[in-house]
Amino acid sequence: MITVKNNMFHLATANTSYIFYINESGIAEHLYYGKRLRNPEYDISALREKRLCPRVNETSLSPQDTTLQMTNLMSEFSTEDKGDYRTPSIAISYGKKKIRTLDLRFKSYSHFQGIERFSSPLVQAIGTDQNTCGIILEFVDAIACVKALFYYTLFDDSDVITRRVTIENIGSDPLILRSIYSLQLDLPEHDYDFITLNGAQLRERHPISRPLEQGIIINETRKGASSSESNPAVILKRHNSDECYMTNLIYSGSHREVAEVNQFGKTHILTGINDSTFEAELDPSTAFESPEALMLYSNMGLGDLADKMHHFVREHIQRGVWKNRLRPVSFNTWEALHFNFDEHGIITQIKAAAELGFELFVLDDGWFSVRNDGTTSLGDWTVNSLKIPSGISQISKECHRRGMLFGLWFEPEMVSPGTNLLKKHPDWLLGDPARKTHAVQRNQYFLDITREDCQDYLVTTIKQLIQNGSIDHIKWDMNRHLSDMYSVNPEIRSMGEYQHRYILALNRMQRAITSSFPNLSIENCASGGARFDLGMLSSGTSIWTSDSTDAVERLAIMKGTLMAYPLSVCGTCVSPSPNYATFRPVDLETRFDVALFGVLSYSLNLTKLSKAEKDAIKKQIEFYKQYRQVIQFGIFRCEEKDSITYFTASSPDRTTILVLYMQKLLKSNCEDDILRVPLADENYVYRVVRRDDSAPIWDIGKDVRDYKKEEEVYEVSGDTLKWAGIKLSTRYSGSGYNTGMRVMPDFSSRLYIIKKI
Ligand code: DGJ
Repeated sequence: MITVKNNMFHLATANTSYIFYINESGIAEHLYYGKRLRNPEYDISALREKRLCPRVNETSLSPQDTTLQMTNLMSEFSTEDKGDYRTPSIAISYGKKKIRTLDLRFKSYSHFQGIERFSSPLVQAIGTDQNTCGIILEFVDAIACVKALFYYTLFDDSDVITRRVTIENIGSDPLILRSIYSLQLDLPEHDYDFITLNGAQLRERHPISRPLEQGIIINETRKGASSSESNPAVILKRHNSDECYMTNLIYSGSHREVAEVNQFGKTHILTGINDSTFEAELDPSTAFESPEALMLYSNMGLGDLADKMHHFVREHIQRGVWKNRLRPVSFNTWEALHFNFDEHGIITQIKAAAELGFELFVLDDGWFSVRNDGTTSLGDWTVNSLKIPSGISQISKECHRRGMLFGLWFEPEMVSPGTNLLKKHPDWLLGDPARKTHAVQRNQYFLDITREDCQDYLVTTIKQLIQNGSIDHIKWDMNRHLSDMYSVNPEIRSMGEYQHRYILALNRMQRAITSSFPNLSIENCASGGARFDLGMLSSGTSIWTSDSTDAVERLAIMKGTLMAYPLSVCGTCVSPSPNYATFRPVDLETRFDVALFGVLSYSLNLTKLSKAEKDAIKKQIEFYKQYRQVIQFGIFRCEEKDSITYFTASSPDRTTILVLYMQKLLKSNCEDDILRVPLADENYVYRVVRRDDSAPIWDIGKDVRDYKKEEEVYEVSGDTLKWAGIKLSTRYSGSGYNTGMRVMPDFSSRLYIIKKI
């Protein structure tokens, strides 16, 4: 609901209020963002900042506005050269003199129902006229020749507000857009921790928390993808309070989040396209649209904040038939076979996969041209007939007749040296032809997908393969970072625009494919999880979370990822032990217990499994199918205590709850521990049992094989479960073994099933 009264704009979602005010000078002063207020319209004098005199040594907006010192004003946007010395959210230069002064004043506003569509192919959040509404505010600077439109869209059911900005050149000279952040959130205080999701390939999105102090913290990437290093989702958590905010960007390219505390203790948050890799030139009467960013608030802690965000992703980011559909359990050939397969080998795996209960079989890298390692063939998307003489459609048929869907791997944006594609279209290679060499990664280069001919070729090729091969699913991979941005595309006048144009092209390509094949699911992937963002989730069904399939490393990756993204979009995997990346041996049941939390896949050579392992996997898959509604579409919490990580997934009605108890290192003579379940409903009575994972414990040494797994069964009231918890059986840690004890070596787990009785 949006109320406008006496120039005060109250944007109210179910539980939050976002309030700003157009002051006497036509400046948008931000007043409040937080828990919903009942009647802020009557409280304007309380909400407005008292600027009774100008601060010494600060710059005032004008002689008439001496107390308006923009650098200390909570505002809806910051511009340059009028006394605001914080990081600007909009920066331009205009005309022959390249003026930078920007003084945007309020002109008008209008309401809308549903969403206002982009005119470009940029992806955006979706909503209906019933659950979504918004407002557009227009600000103008007639001297700098800039019109700025700010779109605020309210997603009431998720407590999310999105914002985006359009900048139009209303002059007769070119306008250079140097910065355009989608969202600015100014807060009056700075007693917050700034939580970001950082890492690297194989250890993506580990949460890092830093207290805000005067100065700037930047969370950014320049790689042309949202990156494994710095995810665009960031969180502010108020000290000693459950109040928290999150912002995120619906975009897959280079982004920057700024958390700046000024000299007077105010917080200034920005999120948007990274301006260090961006510059756009606007001709007269043309406009530039920023991507859409979002913000949300909760006064009930990080768990509730994540719940709202998960709801938003499911309802307003994901679309198409897969939006609310249960994701299948898949088998992927990558860690099972890498490039070493032939038709017979694949069909053997397909048969075994179908017997174990898999629902989707994904043929990963290595099926095309002469691709027998990671150095060749990208771009030549024709089947390797030496490896697969009967063709992809035969593989697909083998899957379909055994009741499985079939998926195929692509890395469409890339080209390898020596390919037919490159010979035919050398000018499609991204890079300045005047240079002898270009930066390289994995011996591959980017195609200039901003060229329509290149884009159309790729879309047509993929569509034909999908059509002819009856492909149900594609894994869309991307394994390097942008470099050498030089395009002959005449539409791109300044290479400062390239990264953004690239993302527009990517969005357009994926949309062209999904709109032709509405039942197709896409798993996006980028060297693991280097493009885990809301842009990719708008056209994809899920994202490959990380190339680290190590159960211990995954705990931290999932903890961070799930702070901002739901389980229904996180690809997880049971792969061989010891893990290829960490050499860590982890038993099969524990690998499953961790991979259970997400969209489950396996990548193991099925022909090398023992009978006991196959039996165990079959049971695991049955278990997953039984509980996947709870896992994929439920509520998630993560808690950590010493060396134990607890993952909890609950059905929204709290009648079924699964708890992972995962121990990293066993402490000798360790303390007793308690299973507390904060998601339990206090009014219910529950039965608590351990998942029957009684298959032998292998991979962890001979002498422990004789130990039995304990039986633990409880009937317990919800309030006891939630507050007192269950004092679990003693862990064996050095002496006095008996069959009631929990034998838990390093890197082992229990999975508790908690059901209302
Ligand atoms: C990187 C991905 O993250 C892997 O899962 C796999 O698909 C390889 N690429 C294949 O080259």
